[in-house]
Amino acid sequence: MRLEGKAALVTGAGSGIGRAMSVRLAQEGAAVMCADIDEEAAQTTAAQVAEHGGRSAAMRLDVTVESDVQAALERTVEQLGSLDALLNNAGVGGGFGWDRTLAVNLTGVYYGLVYGAHLMARRGGGAIVNTASVAGLVGLTGTQPSDPTQAEEPALGAGAYVAAKHGVVGLTRQFALTYARAGVRINAIAPGYIDTPMIQNISGTPQARGLIESLHPMGRLGRPEEIAAAATFLLSDDASFINGVTLPVDGGYTAR
Ligand SMILES: NC(=O)c1ccc[n+]([C@@H]2O[C@H](COP(=O)([O-])OP(=O)(O)OC[C@H]3O[C@@H](n4cnc5c(N)ncnc54)[C@H](O)[C@@H]3O)[C@@H](O)[C@H]2O)c1
Repeated sequence: MRLEGKAALVTGAGSGIGRAMSVRLAQEGAAVMCADIDEEAAQTTAAQVAEHGGRSAAMRLDVTVESDVQAALERTVEQLGSLDALLNNAGVGGGFGWDRTLAVNLTGVYYGLVYGAHLMARRGGGAIVNTASVAGLVGLTGTQPSDPTQAEEPALGAGAYVAAKHGVVGLTRQFALTYARAGVRINAIAPGYIDTPMIQNISGTPQARGLIESLHPMGRLGRPEEIAAAATFLLSDDASFINGVTLPVDGGYTAR
């Protein structure tokens, strides 16, 4: 119960990693605002949080809309009484094009940091974890175009995804410095490939899944719960002197 009495906002809470984070935060004692562009999915997560005995609420949030992010932060305080933890987790995978990928995966995190860190500083402190990716630390392999003479990047989207996630690592460092003396710690996690709906389209066949598994020295994909565990640690007082880092949770993907 490392987050007893705390209130958290999780973006992208309707699926995969965000859903696992919401449940884990509740298991650690936090009240959780589950926010997602898919409101029904957010409600399903909130119901799962409640099943684990946690106080929860759900709302629709599009992280690319500045006023939505401000409203979600304020509503968390109004409905749950505080804002001690923020997980800037909403994201899209490949295939959404440059503008949308950057809007969700980078601008969305930026809004969360601008308004979330400021609100926490005014309220006396807090902790933020951004969901980056191994794609925020290194380029992705296994995504080479089948025919390099064709311009496949806009469709595959690896370049946009890697650029956005590298941006998240940079934002994490900069905001950690800016708010270090205001009692707001800001870190990121860098998951390897995690078994969520996001990667279903690239891991659909046994061969494709085998290829992705083989990219990880541990020879498997990660589970959303393993990412949630690392995020919970970074939010908790166990990480009280950890600030501005991006923690790989990747089965050794970036160790090579
Ligand atoms: N799955 C992986 O292999 C992997 C690896 C590294 C990093 N990540 C990152 O983890 C985070 C969560 O991914 P996931 O695997 O759980 O994916 P997912 O697709 O299962 O869940 C993403 C959630 O974000 C929501 N979302 C999308 N756009 C949104 C928007 N504009 N505003 C609010 N919510 C929005 C979706 O509705 C969905 O519920 C993402 O930032 C992703 O880039 C995932």
